[in-house]
Amino acid sequence: MWCNDVIQGAGLGLRSSFIEEIYNYEEKPNWFEVCPENWIRKQGYLRSLFEKIRSDFPIVCHGLSLSIGSPEDLDFKFLKELKDFLDYYEIEIYSEHLSFSKLNGKNTYDLLPLPFSIEVADYIVEKIKIVQDFLGRQIALENASTYLVLYKEMEETEFISYIVENSNCKLLLDINNVYVNSVNHNFNPYFFIDSLNPEWISYYHIAGHKKLKDDLLIDTHGENVSEEVFNLAEYTFYKLGSKPILLERDNNIPPYEELLKEYKKVKLLAEKYEKVH
Ligand SMILES: [Fe+2]
Repeated sequence: MWCNDVIQGAGLGLRSSFIEEIYNYEEKPNWFEVCPENWIRKQGYLRSLFEKIRSDFPIVCHGLSLSIGSPEDLDFKFLKELKDFLDYYEIEIYSEHLSFSKLNGKNTYDLLPLPFSIEVADYIVEKIKIVQDFLGRQIALENASTYLVLYKEMEETEFISYIVENSNCKLLLDINNVYVNSVNHNFNPYFFIDSLNPEWISYYHIAGHKKLKDDLLIDTHGENVSEEVFNLAEYTFYKLGSKPILLERDNNIPPYEELLKEYKKVKLLAEKYEKVH
C-alpha cells in the first residue's frame, strides 16, 4: 500500500497560526499535511519550526498551483523547486487537485471545474505522466468541489477512473467534496462512493462546508465537519477500507485546543476502522 507505508491514522493540515502550539498538548496528530507553496521559500523562525515538525512527524505535501487541467504548459521552474523541496525533506507523498486554476498565463487562485470529457481526460493523463516522471513519484489527485458543471459526456467517477487507471496516479478522495457536490448537483453521494475502486485511493480528506441554500453548499474549510459528512465518512471507511484521513481547516481556524477536539473525532473514526480491517 503506497500511502499506508508512510502515514497511518489521522493527520491535520499544518498552519503557521498554530505551529508553535503543537508540542504544548499531549494529543498530537499522527501526521501533517503541508502546502509546499507556503513553505518552499519560508525562511527564519518559521522554517526552523517546520524542520522540527518534519523531524518528529510524517509529512505529506498537498499543492495548490500545479493546475494540471490548464491548457497551457506545466511550470517546470516551479516543479524543480517542488522536487528539490520534496527530496530535501524526504517527503514521498505529493497530492494536487483534479481541476485547473491558470488560464492564458493568469492564476485565478481558485480550483476551477474541468469538463468531463475523454479529450480532457487524455490530456490530463499525459500531463500527469510528465509530472510523475519529473518528480520521480506517483502523485495523487483530489476530486474537486464544484458549483457548476462545464461540460459532461461522462460521470465524474468515470472521468476519475479513466485518469487514475491510464496515468497510474492515485486518487485523494475528499469526502466533504463528494457531499458538497452531491447537494450542488443533486446526486446520491453514497452511490458515488460505491462506484470507486479502493485500490485507486491514497488517502482521504475531510473538512467543513457552509450551507448557503438548501441546494448550495460552499467548500469553505472554515467550519466544523458536518454530521452528514461524518456519516458519509463512516460509510466510506466501511465500503472502501481503512486509509489515512486528513482534517483540513484553512479558514476561520479556532484556537488549537478546539481544533484538536475536532481532530480527535476524525482520529477515533480512523482508529475504529483500523481495527476492523
Ligand atoms: Fe480536500
